[in-house]
Amino acid sequence: MNIGIIGSGGREHAICYKINKSNSSHKIYCFPGNAGTSKISTNVLINPDNFDELYDFVIKKNIDLIIVGPENSLVNGIVDFFENKNIKIFGPNKKASKLEGSKIFMKDFCIKNKIPTAKYIEVKDLKSAQDFLISSNFPVVVKSDGLAAGKGVTICNNTDEVLKDVKRILDGKFKSSKKVIIEEFLKGEEASYFVITDGINFKNIGTAQDHKRVGEGDIGLNTGGMGAYSPSYLIDDEVEEKIVQKIIKPTIDGMRKMGTPYRGILYAGLMIHDKEPKLIEYNIRFGDPECQVLMLRMKSQLLDIILSIFDNTLKEKKIIWEENPGITIVAASKGYPESFKNNVEIKNLENLKLTNSKQIFHAGTIKNEKGKILSNGGRVLNSTVVSETLKNARIEALDLLDQLDWENKYYRRDIGFRVIKK
Ligand code: AMP
Ligand code: GLY
Repeated sequence: MNIGIIGSGGREHAICYKINKSNSSHKIYCFPGNAGTSKISTNVLINPDNFDELYDFVIKKNIDLIIVGPENSLVNGIVDFFENKNIKIFGPNKKASKLEGSKIFMKDFCIKNKIPTAKYIEVKDLKSAQDFLISSNFPVVVKSDGLAAGKGVTICNNTDEVLKDVKRILDGKFKSSKKVIIEEFLKGEEASYFVITDGINFKNIGTAQDHKRVGEGDIGLNTGGMGAYSPSYLIDDEVEEKIVQKIIKPTIDGMRKMGTPYRGILYAGLMIHDKEPKLIEYNIRFGDPECQVLMLRMKSQLLDIILSIFDNTLKEKKIIWEENPGITIVAASKGYPESFKNNVEIKNLENLKLTNSKQIFHAGTIKNEKGKILSNGGRVLNSTVVSETLKNARIEALDLLDQLDWENKYYRRDIGFRVIKK
């Protein structure tokens, strides 16, 4: 088959790697990919939001299936565009993508379908925000309605903080939306639960936990994710049953009943407290960096599972996992998530000993004309290892990163600290 992958992050390199490991061989194109994907596929410098240009290429190269990594393309309607042209594309359509694309849509949907989540209100001005605060306890959480690349959420401890943040969003801090909600702060520990669904049936496609803060000990600014591990130790059979019955099933059934069946990967960001899961948010795609560790732990063929969505055989599929746990540690450019330097050479990457359970997935990297690998973004590499214990996995993942000769590298050494006791 000829396969196209949309995106350029560590998630897309991991998907590309996994498909490249399939039993049968495939020609893979990445739009636009990174230095890592260029070794196992063809990078194509087309802006994935330019659907017409993408379509011309897809026709020219006889691409049979498109897999979409990032949420922006999905929210922009890439799936609707290619479905209208009868090209197989994996991911939810524009309407179903509102589960991530609009927090107000998602919250309203949860209420209608009795899905446990934090209480919320939409505030249209500062006065209604103030009125709401009279009867609520701090902290509260202020959120922008639309996509905000992880920057749309602030936990506020007093009225001034809330009003400042609400004002900024109402004034247009985020291009995606000027709408704002305030919600109840949920206590507990976060975990992620992933399913793949054809709109009717669904299968669990992994669990994980990630570390969003930039600093060790989970302090400092929020990022796209500094590392993750799988499986989540919070999700045992009892908790999983609650997640499925109270959250996942009502979501998939509810979307179908609304006439917007959800097809693709659904990622539930959960808060778990006393074994009770509540939904914090939905994402309409794999997590990044969670996907990297899931792809290394998955024994089944990813492509086979994705294709089952199109021939209605998902129900019969069994997704098989490596029992050992896995970890992924993000190596970022020093200064991330604020300002950082690009085009810094990363040396010694080619000398690392990689195996089926030890991989470096690239995110923000490019290869220059001399074949050198340069940093090209905030999150740059993902050292990903599956091993008998999470502690060993972390030691091995750090060892790979320690061997890199790269002046600007920054990574946390404590990923997984809630599980890995000294
Ligand atoms: P989101 O952009 O919705 O993923 O939120 C980013 C992060 O903010 C989440 O991963 C949580 O750590 C935190 N967060 C969001 N909503 C809540 C909430 N209602 N209670 C506690 N923490 C929250
Ligand atoms: N790692 C969090 C996300 O992908 O949204």
